[in-house]
Amino acid sequence: MKSTTAVLLARRPEHTFVADDLTLGEIELPELTPGHALVRNQYMSLDPSTRGRMDPGEKQYTTNFSVGGPLDGSAIGVVVESASDKLPVGATVRHRLGWREYAVVDDVAATVCDTNLAPAINWLSSLGQTGFTAYAGLFPVGKLQAGEVVLVSGAGGAVGSMAGQFARLSGASRVIGSAGGADKCQWLLDDCGFDYVINYRDAEFADELPKAAPEGIDLFFDNVGGWQMAAAFQNMKIHGRVSMCGAISNFGTTPQPSTAVMIEMILRRITVQGFIVRDYEDLRPEFEAKVSGWLASGELVDRATVSEGIANAGAGLAGLLSGANVGKALVHLSD
Ligand SMILES: NC(=O)c1ccc[n+]([C@@H]2O[C@H](COP(=O)([O-])OP(=O)(O)OC[C@H]3O[C@@H](n4cnc5c(N)ncnc54)[C@H](OP(=O)(O)O)[C@@H]3O)[C@@H](O)[C@H]2O)c1
Repeated sequence: MKSTTAVLLARRPEHTFVADDLTLGEIELPELTPGHALVRNQYMSLDPSTRGRMDPGEKQYTTNFSVGGPLDGSAIGVVVESASDKLPVGATVRHRLGWREYAVVDDVAATVCDTNLAPAINWLSSLGQTGFTAYAGLFPVGKLQAGEVVLVSGAGGAVGSMAGQFARLSGASRVIGSAGGADKCQWLLDDCGFDYVINYRDAEFADELPKAAPEGIDLFFDNVGGWQMAAAFQNMKIHGRVSMCGAISNFGTTPQPSTAVMIEMILRRITVQGFIVRDYEDLRPEFEAKVSGWLASGELVDRATVSEGIANAGAGLAGLLSGANVGKALVHLSD
């Protein structure tokens, strides 16, 4: 096989990403050298960080895309040809060369996933980087203790829905979420066991939050930043903690709040820690053991919003950035 269909960056977005910022093209596949395998991708992950990587300014933790070049990101697929003992033909593997139908993957950058433990789709969501981000942000970073009040912003999305459920399953006394849309909020209450959910598109988040957390918040898991973060700071308990996971509102058009709200960090003696999930790789085995147990027992709900086919990947990403997804956003590429 010499080439594959891939999604290319057609142009850098002008602030708001639109699907036409991407285009489909054929890219060459490298020769299969020792230590590599040809994978037919089945699902690929849609992630907010993909939008950030379309900008020209380099990030601290990843590389940016070139105009005309292919995108990449997490994907899972089946090995169809192999020159690696670690990646046998027929194995289901997770790797970083999504946004294309086939990929030649290096065995040092690919993980064989046990589909007897959980279906392939879960290895990109609850058991993948999404769930692991929630786990890292709640436990080593957020230092969650049983009995605490937890607020999760962006709770209807992939990381947020996991963070709220992991907190509940780990003994949080009250789990509060924010999400955009009545259906998403109802799903969080009915299926994911959140105690209180604020639909920030319909209600004024800053007015609702004191009703949701009358005694204050111990741990705030922030996926959103901006106005929700500012309101959360004003409702933290003394010595509360903030686990800063993401700032997706930076990609929106609403003006950002003033940094004057940071005074709350002083007044309330708040500890704020940002994190990048890849720094916690040593915790992956304990994470997979715990989360696969919760999945198997049915205590954890793992929902995905799936776009069909590589041609719809750009629309799927635009949907993710505008809140169209419930739970993990994925693209189905092949069976
Ligand atoms: N630190 C790390 O290592 C790490 C790793 C992975 C992901 N992240 C971050 O974690 C966050 C969540 O990622 P995810 O993959 O789970 O994405 P996601 O939450 O599934 O999707 C993004 C969601 O953000 C919400 N959103 C979009 N624009 C918004 C705005 N202007 N204000 C408020 N909410 C907005 C939308 O939901 P609603 O409409 O329901 O609000 C949308 O569905 C992102 O910020 C991402 O960058 C961090």
